[in-house]
Amino acid sequence: MLVIVPPHVLVKHNLAIARNKDTPSGAFRAAIGELGKILIYEAVRDWLPTVDLQIETPVGVADATVVDPTKPVALVPILRAGLVPLEQASSVIPVSITYHVGYVRDEETLEASLYLNKLPPSFTPEDQIIVSDPMLATGGTMIACLKDLVSRGASVQNIRVISIVAAPPALTKLGDEFPGLKVYTAMIDPELNDVGYIIPGLGDAGDRAFG
Ligand code: PRP
Repeated sequence: MLVIVPPHVLVKHNLAIARNKDTPSGAFRAAIGELGKILIYEAVRDWLPTVDLQIETPVGVADATVVDPTKPVALVPILRAGLVPLEQASSVIPVSITYHVGYVRDEETLEASLYLNKLPPSFTPEDQIIVSDPMLATGGTMIACLKDLVSRGASVQNIRVISIVAAPPALTKLGDEFPGLKVYTAMIDPELNDVGYIIPGLGDAGDRAFG
C-alpha cells in the first residue's frame, strides 16, 4: 500500500485551520474542502483516462488532451464526514458520479455499522473509485467500505482513498487487507486515545462540520 502525504504549504495551512479547536464550523468545512481538493488533484494525476483530439483556437488548430467524458470517476463519500473533502470535487474532476454510503462507529465498541448504501449492484475492475473519509482511526469503517466495493467487482488497484488525518492502526490494517491501495492524506498522526480518537487529530469531524 502506498500512503501519499503531499508536501504542499497549502496542505499545512488548511490542516492547521482544521485542527484548531476554535475554528468555527463554516471555516472548518472550507479548510477540509480545500484539503480534499488538493488531495484529489494528487490522486488523479496521470490516472484519469484521456482522449486526444484537435481543437480550433481563435487563430489556429491545436492538438489537445481532455478527460474522457465517457468514463466518470465514482466518488464514494462515507457519511457524514466524508462528504466534506468532496465539496469541491466537481471543480477538479470533469466527469464523476457520486454513490453515498453511511457508516457510524459505535462509541464504545468502535465497530462500524452501515446505515445507508447507495452503491450500484456491480462495478468493473476498470472503474475508477475515490473513497472519502477524513478520519482513518481504527480503520474499521474504511475496511468495511472497501470490502463492500471489492465484493461488487471493484479492483483495489483502481481505488484511491482521500483522508485528512490517518492513524497508524488504520494504515497497518488497510495495508494488510489491501496491499495495492493508494491512500492520500494531509497528515499521519501518531496515535489513538483510549476512546478511539486520533491524537492530535481534528476532534469529531462529522460533528464539527455538521453540528
Ligand atoms: C468517524 C469518522 C470515520 C470513522 C473513523 O465517523 O468520520 O468515518 O469515525 O473511525 P474508524 O477508522 O475507527 O472506523 P463517525 O462514526 O463518527 O460518523 P460521522 O462521520 O457521521 O461523524
